[in-house]
Amino acid sequence: MKSKLIVGNWKMNGGLQANSDLLLAIQSGMSETSCRAAVCVPLPYLAQMQTLLQGSALAWGAQDVSAHQSGAYTGEVSASMLRDFAVRYCIVGHSERRHYHGESDALVASKVQCVLSAGITPIVCVGESQTERAAGQTEAVVKRQLAAVIHANGHCISEIVVAYEPVWAIGTGLTASPEQAQDVHALLRQQLQAASSQAERIAILYGGSMNAENASSLLAQPDVDGGLIGGAALSANDFLTIMASASR
Ligand code: 13P
Repeated sequence: MKSKLIVGNWKMNGGLQANSDLLLAIQSGMSETSCRAAVCVPLPYLAQMQTLLQGSALAWGAQDVSAHQSGAYTGEVSASMLRDFAVRYCIVGHSERRHYHGESDALVASKVQCVLSAGITPIVCVGESQTERAAGQTEAVVKRQLAAVIHANGHCISEIVVAYEPVWAIGTGLTASPEQAQDVHALLRQQLQAASSQAERIAILYGGSMNAENASSLLAQPDVDGGLIGGAALSANDFLTIMASASR
């Protein structure tokens, strides 16, 4: 069985001193039997991650990337720039990017292409809104979002990580029940299997108010391969408890 993957998405939180305190506390609580783990931090702190985490079992990543390689794109950061900071992961298509920045399925798919060609693992987020769930559209929405990425990336698809993040569960304290999460993960797994003979190696993470209390039951589901954690990743104790639940 592949080991589970726990990723902290710090979103727009942190500061040099706070980051260093948090990482120290997480690292000192990690054991050799810990699951795979990473933190995805705001861009200005990637250099700090490279300094503090080099050689550690905790990997680091970014939260977004440009869909362009280089050029006149003020404010954007390319995948090759991320590679200069030895990032292992890059979150792509987070619902906050789709919602606040109007990112389309096609844009997300081309960002995934850029990340893969830089040798970085994209964590591709999919998930339905409350209205879409109420209208019975969950399956259609997540399949459409993932299909765009599969279509643009062909056989490289086995190199991605997928995160199912129901929008209604993000930062709301509402969590998908383990059964709701499992149902969607199984659909995504089938879709990946139809696209790649190596789909078994693709981790499908759950994200949306995962915390120290509910992590074990979510992570016990057969198709939940880990978690993408927002708020609870800002507390070393909570993050370590979630990691411990994933390491059993
Ligand atoms: P919360 O864990 O704060 O709900 O955030 C989830 C998320 O968006 C992770 O990417």
